[in-house]
This record gives sequence, structure tokens and C-alpha cells, in this order.
Amino acid sequence: MIQKEFSISPTGEKFPLPTAEEYKKEFSQLQKTVAEQRKLGREIVVVVGIGFVGAVMAAVVADSTNKKGKPDKFVIGMQRPSVRSFWKIPLLNRGVSPVKSEDPEVDILIERCVKEKKNLVATYTYEVMKLADVVVVDVQCDYLKESLGDCCAGSADMAALEASLGVIAENIGPETLVLIETTVAPGTTEQIAYPIMKKIFERRGIKSSPLLAHSYERVMPGKDYVASIRDFWRVCSGVNQKARKKVTKFLKDILNTDEFPLTILDRPIESETAKIIENSFRATILAFMDEWSLFAERNGVDLKKVIEAIKVRPTHSNIMFPGPGIGGYCLPKDGGLGVWAYKHIHGWEDDIFKVTPLAIDINDTRGLRVAQLVRDALRNMGQPIAAADVLLLGAAYREDVGDTRYSGSEVIVRKLTEMGAEMLVHDPYLAHWWEFEAQDTYPHPDYSWSRFFHRQEKLKELRVNKDMWKAMKGVKAIILAVRHSDYLDLDPEKVVQAVGKPCAIIDCFCILDDAKIESYFKMGCEVKGMGRGHIQRIKEKVRKKKFIP
Ligand SMILES: NC(=O)c1ccc[n+]([C@@H]2O[C@H](COP(=O)([O-])OP(=O)(O)OC[C@H]3O[C@@H](n4cnc5c(N)ncnc54)[C@H](O)[C@@H]3O)[C@@H](O)[C@H]2O)c1
Repeated sequence: MIQKEFSISPTGEKFPLPTAEEYKKEFSQLQKTVAEQRKLGREIVVVVGIGFVGAVMAAVVADSTNKKGKPDKFVIGMQRPSVRSFWKIPLLNRGVSPVKSEDPEVDILIERCVKEKKNLVATYTYEVMKLADVVVVDVQCDYLKESLGDCCAGSADMAALEASLGVIAENIGPETLVLIETTVAPGTTEQIAYPIMKKIFERRGIKSSPLLAHSYERVMPGKDYVASIRDFWRVCSGVNQKARKKVTKFLKDILNTDEFPLTILDRPIESETAKIIENSFRATILAFMDEWSLFAERNGVDLKKVIEAIKVRPTHSNIMFPGPGIGGYCLPKDGGLGVWAYKHIHGWEDDIFKVTPLAIDINDTRGLRVAQLVRDALRNMGQPIAAADVLLLGAAYREDVGDTRYSGSEVIVRKLTEMGAEMLVHDPYLAHWWEFEAQDTYPHPDYSWSRFFHRQEKLKELRVNKDMWKAMKGVKAIILAVRHSDYLDLDPEKVVQAVGKPCAIIDCFCILDDAKIESYFKMGCEVKGMGRGHIQRIKEKVRKKKFIP
């Protein structure tokens, strides 16, 4: 008997993977639906990859309307039926978002398009491309790092992208627009995607060139997720004039380009490079602050106040404190894709890139400093780090989101575990921290950062505590790692009461003001903070007061 395989959703619901028989039925059902939709004059848009970006992009396309205020697109989200991801398809078909977002509009939008407008569905069959007028590619293109703090040793993982481009070319018609939205190594659209597709077209007897375009996503996780796709400026380009014209029309149809005008660049390599520079610029200004953060810690400077003083100058208003690391899916990888492309797509051998990889390496390793601060704070309290219970508050890569991809907090947990600490974690936005619970397979079997550290096995048992106050009981140290709103105004007295005795407090993100720091010292705690060298002054002030007769 053939063993059935299942895909399990994050809530634990089991979905059997489709059988060969079901593929046939699925496609003929789609053909019928599409024929009806064409009668309504609707364009058929297939979005490949219904992950963080694709699921919401598909809904934005479905929700768009023509000049008469009527929907004129029928959208089919296409997702490969892997054990890991198949569950996204039945969920979306029920009108349930397969991605969790802090933006309430995501759920509303998906439910409205699936259940009311009935112009959004999802499927697993690649044959659906045969029915498409437009294919939007939203699969991932990862960057695999070989070691921590040396991004140049890594490489672009184009497997998912190349596989989907091959299948698209096998199935689409010659007039179908293929829009790559994936963040790619600059040169990919023209030098990798185009040849793959052209060759397949030739084999199929199609004489014309594939109509390929590129336009990158600037989507931002958080409460404005949908708006960051729909109501935001876009850059696009096409491999030829026809593709450029088609992509311009498509984006104008679906996005709010009246208020947020499109920028049309000559060639895809320019739009691909724009994305990589955008994110490398951001990564660099954050990495730049790492050395000043250390300078501040060692020389009595409060970097928080220094940044506030500088920001007043309009030309410097985007100066930022980097927290315990940068994280997110994009900033830690995108510069790497550019550096890799220079050698492996364009064939240059010299090392022109200095700043871009260095910024990524600095950002990837900044969390290690937190482990040193915890160690030093405990030592000042006469306690070893080994076997100490340490509570981390905040697992996400930025405030008020539940996205943990490559967060600085992950590095903190891994390093402190290597040093012998017993880690506890709380994050109001998370039920599971998959980077640990499923570290053998998440995000992919070879990708876990557990491979950069020793003694990581037990971290599979790490669970996210639901009750922050209960989790504090008896811990030796608390790390304030993320500026989640729940953590911004914790009362020091309540914290020490919940712990049951004085403990070490490590502030990674300028969360504590001077009054709170003073209050912790008064209760016998030890306080340390990234970039906050003035803490020593506050400590001395409290001590002096204590010893005055
Ligand atoms: N998430 C963000 O915040 C963000 C922001 C801006 C840009 N981007 C870029 O958008 C792209 C997509 O990112 P994401 O966060 O949505 O990734 P993701 O991993 O959440 O989603 C990718 C989806 O594609 C599916 N997939 C992979 N190969 C496939 C194939 N051959 N056929 C069909 N489906 C396939 C995967 O199963 C997954 O569901 C990336 O290039 C990313 O850099 C992401």
C-alpha cells in the first residue's frame, strides 16, 4: 500500500498531499473556472509562491478594480505541494491567510477576495500556467552562508527560482507576461531566467522571446503590510520594450500608482541592482553604528542620547540604533546576492566589494556582544554564566512583529547556550520559535544557524513562554532584546518582585531610561546595555548615596 504523505499547518491541521488522479481533476476544474472568468472579461493572473509576499500580493491583485470600480482580474495562487508548504493551499481556498501578520487588513483582504468577490483561489498544479495572462514569481531566492561572520564564503541558492522558471516556460503561452518579484542576484532576469525560458520556448517551437520583467517588492512586515505592497512606490523594467510596456500596464492596474508613481528603468539588471543597493544601504548604516556602540560602552557615552542629538539635523534623520542584530529575511542576505553575482554571473575575479559584505558580517555577529554583557553582569554579581537561567524578552527581528527570521535574538540564545546558560524566552507575538523547535529542518535542512555553535541540541526543547511575569521567577538575568510595546515600560519594582531577588538586566535596544536604570541599581540589580556607557556613572551615583553616613 502507498503511504500517504501529509502537510501540517502551523495550527496542527493535517492535509494529505494530492495524488496523481487529483492533479487531473484539479486542472480540469481550473479550466472550467477560468473559462467562466474570461467570459466576465477578466485577466488571469497566476502568483507562484504563496509565502509572506506572494499570498498578500495575490490578494492585492484580486482586490484591484478597473476604472468602473469592478474587479477585472482572476487570481490563482500557485504553490508547490511540498510537505512543508502544501497546507497553504487549502487554507487560502477557505479564505484564511496562510501568513500571520500584525496587519488586520491581510485577513480581511484574503477573506473578501476568496469568499465575496470569488476571484482568488489557490492550486498546486503547475499546469495552471497554461491559463495565465500574467505570471508573478514570488518564490524565495536564498543566500546560503558557510560560516558566521563571513558572508563572502556563501552562495546564492537559486534552485527554487530556476525550477519555477523552467516549469513556467514549459507551460505558458508566448504572450504571457512573466514578472519576477523575487529579490535576485543582479543579472538573474537577463542572464539566468531569460536563457532558461528562451531555450524551452525554442524546443516548444515558439519563435518569440519570453516576455520577462522584474519589479521588486518593498513589503514591510508589521501593521501596514498590505499598504506597503499596494500603496507604495515601485520600480520596474522589462527585457524588451513589449515586456516593459506590459509590466507598466499591469502594475498601474493593480497598485496605487497615482499617489505612488512607478519608476521604469531601462533594463532588469538596473531594477535588480536598485533592490540590492536599497537593502545594502540600510544594512550599512546600521553596521556603522556597531563600532560606535562599543566606543560608547567603553567610554561613558550614552549612544541613545547621542543619536537623539544628531537626528535633530534633517540631513541625518535616518541614523539608527542597531539593537542586538539586524535580521529580517532581506537585510542579512541581499548584499550577498550582489557580491555573488559580480563573480558568478558576471565573471569578474577582483574583490571590489568591501563595505557591503563587511556590513552583513558585522550585523550577523552583533548579537555575540550581548552574551559578553550577560557574562560580565553576572560576574559582577558573583555568579557564573554556566547553568544560569537567563530570560530573553523578544525573539522577533524588530518591534511589534512575530517575524523571527535571522533575528539578533537567535544569535544571543545560541551563544549563551554554548556558554552553558539555560535559556528561557518570551515574545508576545509568537507561539513557536521554529528556528529552535525545528532546527534540523527549518528554514531548510542545511540552513540552521545551529551549525555555527556548539551544544545546540537541547535548544529543540526551547518553548516560548506565554506569561512573561511567570517566566521571570528565579532567573539570574533578563535580556531586553526587542522594542516590543509590552517591554517599553516595565516597572523595575514589579520585575524584581516577579524574579524574587535582584538579577542582571541587559538592555540591548535603549529601552531603559536613566530613572529605571537607577531604580534597578537601588534594588541591588546589575544593569548593562548595548551602547550605554553612562550606566557605570548611574551605578557609582547609587553606590555613593548608599555609603554616605
Ligand atoms: N518577506 C519580506 O519581508 C520581503 C520583503 C521584500 C522582498 N522580499 C522578497 O520576496 C521574495 C519572496 O519572499 P517570501 O518572504 O515571500 O518567501 P517565502 O519563503 O515566505 O515564500 C516563498 C514561497 O514560494 C514557494 N515556492 C518555492 N519554490 C516554488 C516553486 N518551484 N513553485 C511554486 N512555489 C514555490 C515556497 O513553498 C513558499 O511558499 C524573496 O525574494 C524575498 O527576498 C521579501
